[in-house]
Amino acid sequence: MNKFNYKNLDDLKQDLTRLELDEQVGISDDFSVFWNPLVLENGTKIHSRFAVHPMEGFDSNPDGSPSELTFRRYQRYGPGRYGLIWFEATAVLSEARSNPSQLWLHDKSWEAFAKLVEKTKKLCKQQSGFEPCCILQLTHSGRYSRPDGKNPKPIIAHHSPYLDKTHGLPQDYPVVTDDYLDKLQDTFLHAAKLAQKAGFDGVDIKSCHRYLISELLASSTRPGKYGGPLENRTRLLREIFAKVTHECPKLIPTTRLNAYDALPFPYGFGMNPDGSLEQNLDEPNYVIDELKKFGMPIINITIANPYYEPHYGRPYDTPIIGAPDSPEHPLHGVARFISLTAKLQAKHPQLPIIGTGYSWLRQWLPNVAAWAIATKRVSMVGLGRMAFAYPDAPKDIAMEQKLNPSKVCIACSRCTQIMRDGEHTGCVIRDAKTYAKPYRLAKQAAHARLGIKTNE
Ligand SMILES: Cc1cc2nc3c(=O)[nH]c(=O)nc-3n(C[C@H](O)[C@H](O)[C@H](O)COP(=O)(O)O)c2cc1C
Repeated sequence: MNKFNYKNLDDLKQDLTRLELDEQVGISDDFSVFWNPLVLENGTKIHSRFAVHPMEGFDSNPDGSPSELTFRRYQRYGPGRYGLIWFEATAVLSEARSNPSQLWLHDKSWEAFAKLVEKTKKLCKQQSGFEPCCILQLTHSGRYSRPDGKNPKPIIAHHSPYLDKTHGLPQDYPVVTDDYLDKLQDTFLHAAKLAQKAGFDGVDIKSCHRYLISELLASSTRPGKYGGPLENRTRLLREIFAKVTHECPKLIPTTRLNAYDALPFPYGFGMNPDGSLEQNLDEPNYVIDELKKFGMPIINITIANPYYEPHYGRPYDTPIIGAPDSPEHPLHGVARFISLTAKLQAKHPQLPIIGTGYSWLRQWLPNVAAWAIATKRVSMVGLGRMAFAYPDAPKDIAMEQKLNPSKVCIACSRCTQIMRDGEHTGCVIRDAKTYAKPYRLAKQAAHARLGIKTNE
């Protein structure tokens, strides 16, 4: 098993050479690049090159509004000097929630969201010296909808020989209708209007990780106007963009896009049509070109499906309970993210791209991130699990020129475990007072779910 084991940068460099990844992943100790502001095409100033990635805490109130624990999570980013905070997956409909504690934006909850944005911006201004750009991720969980927390209620765009097994879906399980998708356009529009009223700077029409819109992008086998050729598969996303940009012209329109599903064609997006696991970046490039026409000034790039093949999207040292060890060295996962994002950034040099998958690098994250930014492989670096573990990491990079190894994420998958097993999630290792108990409960639930007998 390959785990993080680098006491110094030379150890990391040696492993990069051994794995023949030294062309794809480099190292720099010039951290000044992080503090060069970016000005988006719409005029928005982004003060640092660090973003918080969307990270769900599954801690909403039952009505979908942010709870005290949600406020606490965002307040922890206050001193963090983030140029951008990409708020977590927030459902646009009750039936679209992946969990009864997933945030849900609607007419009766938007005011609580307004307080959350206001408080987050104010605290960041006080503690970091500038306000971050705040984007809200709007989602329909599609295949992974489970609004009551107990029984999955999948809403699928097509049948998949790979993914149907997860929920044991029979072949005659109904596929979401075109009519439902037509209506969803206005549902997303309504949510975008509420996000604007709440004070968000932008909305992400979530197109990643194989939730509904991401699954549609891969719906080559679906008949009708939302399936088959790429133009049809991207229709819902494009038409939502058209409505949102028309009706909310001040809002930044963007998306978090899966550029590569790691599921063979015709069941994956961004895949070589030969049915292999090779990438086909013509597909994400087409989506980016189409969305640029609506003035999209920034994009967040990610890959794969966290339920089916988590090592692609979240390089880890330890899997969740019952899952296999990573089938590849996690550095391969980090390198795949960096080189795929670099190809997209080279193709769209004027469009700032936020990169993903850096948390596994622990205290050497700033060195690789600085190199990736300096060499124009990416414009901003997003922190996912690292932001849970070490919410003020960029502050230490600014003040100390390094990260504290005893505060970093250790890619142990415990935050994912809690999420799978229905508790409030956060960093079990570095924020144990808050999350050790939910983890214990999640672990018990996982053992019961998998029929694992323990002495606990
Ligand atoms: C607990 C948890 C919650 C997450 N929530 C979201 C989410 O709401 N939206 C999203 O697009 N990705 C979500 N992700 C994925 C992360 O944003 C990120 O892509 C992933 O963790 C890889 O980046 P990292 O190496 O910095 O952690 C989540 C991941 C975890 C572990």
